[in-house]
Amino acid sequence: MKKTVLVSGGAGFIGSHVTVELLQAGYEVVVADNFSNCDRTCFEGVKKITGREDLPLEVVDFCDEAAAKAIFHKYHIDAVIHFAAFKAVGESVAEPLKYYKNNLVSFMNVLEAASEVGGCNVLFSSSATVYGEPEKVPVTEDTPRQPAMSPYGNTKTMCEDILQDTVKASGGAIKGILLRYFNPIGAHPSALIGELPRGVPNNLVPFITQTAIGKRECLSIFGNDYPTPDGTCLRDYIDIVDLARAHVFAVTRMMEGKMKKPCEIFNVGTGRPVSVMELVNAFQKVNGVKLNYKIAARRPGDVTAIWADPTLANNELGWKAERSVEDTLKSAWAWECHLAGK
Ligand code: UFG
Repeated sequence: MKKTVLVSGGAGFIGSHVTVELLQAGYEVVVADNFSNCDRTCFEGVKKITGREDLPLEVVDFCDEAAAKAIFHKYHIDAVIHFAAFKAVGESVAEPLKYYKNNLVSFMNVLEAASEVGGCNVLFSSSATVYGEPEKVPVTEDTPRQPAMSPYGNTKTMCEDILQDTVKASGGAIKGILLRYFNPIGAHPSALIGELPRGVPNNLVPFITQTAIGKRECLSIFGNDYPTPDGTCLRDYIDIVDLARAHVFAVTRMMEGKMKKPCEIFNVGTGRPVSVMELVNAFQKVNGVKLNYKIAARRPGDVTAIWADPTLANNELGWKAERSVEDTLKSAWAWECHLAGK
């Protein structure tokens, strides 16, 4: 019988791509989302890509404890991947309680529900944000975590600890994997699912594509006076499909009992630093479009340089990022054009 994976936040940017990869790898998926930060576009896209018109969908807010538990009783869940969370760094600074309440309570409810049914494999979507401004790059999983720069970042650090402690106390019933994402960008090659920011995008690539299509007037490059080769910040941009594939490897490792510890941590990145300027230039070149941009002041809270050492994920999960940044930028542009009906 097929194993079932519950994907909370499964209609969002990362969740929808992970759902596609899981279905294509032969898992059954239950998508759960409250559509608070996305519409049905990606859910419909997932059904189209996979030919699964009957894909189970639960419209639920995981902050509702009873509703979270009901899902674990309704289905036999072999693993849960938890994405359901708010993710805007700036908003989290302005509205910290909204972030602490939503991101922590929903995850604790998932863990409680999983415990109530006798345990589960739990994969949590963490972030490179837990490394803060690292003293040494690239970062390995052993690089010390730093105090987070925002309430959003704090929720990632706290959820990591909540999972570690819950796994430890569960006597083997709950197993955990923490995936620390670097900068996920791009879209599915079908251009049927992708990132759908509400309002003005916070992240670089959606801002680039919206500027190129004419929705935004001008891209601001936040600072060119950083101590980096071209003065702009360095990041590890990881293709969204590559990132999604890492989840399939992680879930399979849990299901097959191959974990070396009850709670494991993996960096999900390429190991390749790319500057903001390089990314902007690559976007223009591969897509043959001219981008209106200007150099602006630094954005408060940005780290200068961070990229992953993905060796552990490469060796242990058997996963490796495969897509070039150029192909990923083509997919991001194809998605923006698809949205614009072009
Ligand atoms: N940038 C610009 N102009 C923009 C947007 C971004 O120059 O309009 C620059 C930023 O200054 C940064 C780089 O592009 O140097 C990447 O910025 P993003 O906002 O796309 O990504 P971040 O690295 O800031 O954030 C990502 C995730 C967060 C996570 C954070 C820290 O989106 O969820 O990494 O790990 F918290």
